[in-house]
Amino acid sequence: MLNWNELEAKSNPNAGMTPEMMSNMTSAMDDTTDVTQAVDSGDHASPHGQTGLEGIAQGAGRVDVSAKRIINATADVNQLLPMKYTWAWEKYLAGCNNHWMPTEVSMQADIALWKGRDGGLTADERAMIMRNLGFFATAESLVANNIVLAIYKQVTNPECRQYLLRQAFEEAVHTHTFQYIVESLGLAEGELFNMYREIPSITAKDEWALKYTKNLADGDFDTSTTKGAQDFLRDLVAFYVVFEGMWFYTGFAQILSLGRRNKMTGIAEQYQYIMRDESIHMNFGIDVINQIKIENPHLWTEDFKAEVTRMLKEAAELEIAYARDTMPHGLLGLNAEMCAEYLHFIANRRCNQIGLAELFPGATNPFPWMSEVIDLKKEKNFFETRVTDYQTGGALNW
Ligand SMILES: [Fe+2]
Ligand SMILES: [Fe+2]
Repeated sequence: MLNWNELEAKSNPNAGMTPEMMSNMTSAMDDTTDVTQAVDSGDHASPHGQTGLEGIAQGAGRVDVSAKRIINATADVNQLLPMKYTWAWEKYLAGCNNHWMPTEVSMQADIALWKGRDGGLTADERAMIMRNLGFFATAESLVANNIVLAIYKQVTNPECRQYLLRQAFEEAVHTHTFQYIVESLGLAEGELFNMYREIPSITAKDEWALKYTKNLADGDFDTSTTKGAQDFLRDLVAFYVVFEGMWFYTGFAQILSLGRRNKMTGIAEQYQYIMRDESIHMNFGIDVINQIKIENPHLWTEDFKAEVTRMLKEAAELEIAYARDTMPHGLLGLNAEMCAEYLHFIANRRCNQIGLAELFPGATNPFPWMSEVIDLKKEKNFFETRVTDYQTGGALNW
């Protein structure tokens, strides 16, 4: 059985490193890494990264793998091979092996419980479920927009772009999941999909993240300046570390907590599939952030680290406000304080992964079962529904 540490170590080579280790790694790379294409400081021009839409230079030199970079690469972005970042390709293969569709999950038990009049769900449980679904229903679209409209153009590496295309499809599958849940349970679609406009604690989270997407979507945006490259890192932190790496995890814990009590087991199963996808999305983003730091050490200044730490703190406060709003009275085995503690625990893990000091020292995991539920192979009987281990291709070791 794998635990979280092992899982994250598999998909993130830097997982588990202390801030000191990351710092040493970065400084060790300073001497050996070719940073000639990295911008030193200020706003003077350096080779802009390619978008892939440039004219085709006939007879130009062939791609040298050492010229490949995450941002500001001059190597042709349309040539997957020769490959440099095998970790990105491995995540693409893992994503393909995890293919699933929401319609494969039976919702019969959920329908009976949701529509039943036998008191199977309390009013507080129903309210929590609706707020939870309401957050995710549009959050998946915001994440997809960020990939397609902001990140993809700035990433000048074809193997990373390959993963982004896979991730974009998975976000579409996740949005499909919420359509399928609404249809199955006969939920008020207008209420659910408008929550991000109508529930202030959801609006606050989404607006916080959206400003980073909007910043990059500006037609003049580019990563050739220090400011531009740091803005790009801010967006990666906002979406991969915060949205997918922190906020989604408290949302998963809320629904899986119900699933453990044999309530809404179909939705809980859908969330297990989504969580399996999201753990790879998050680890891809963290690998990208750490690789950019290695290739452009001048970006990761003390001031910038302090700013990223502030971002994570703001994000934690927004999530805690949302948790209080979603569970004003607490449920059996789940309340806003436990969600806050879990968020602090998860935030510390994310700090470690990107080389920052822990934001909430001493935080513990109030949901130890979350570490087990991620191991889907073990969870065949967890919700006593169908087998969740679904592989269409080569083996993916969790
Ligand atoms: Fe997603
Ligand atoms: Fe995602």
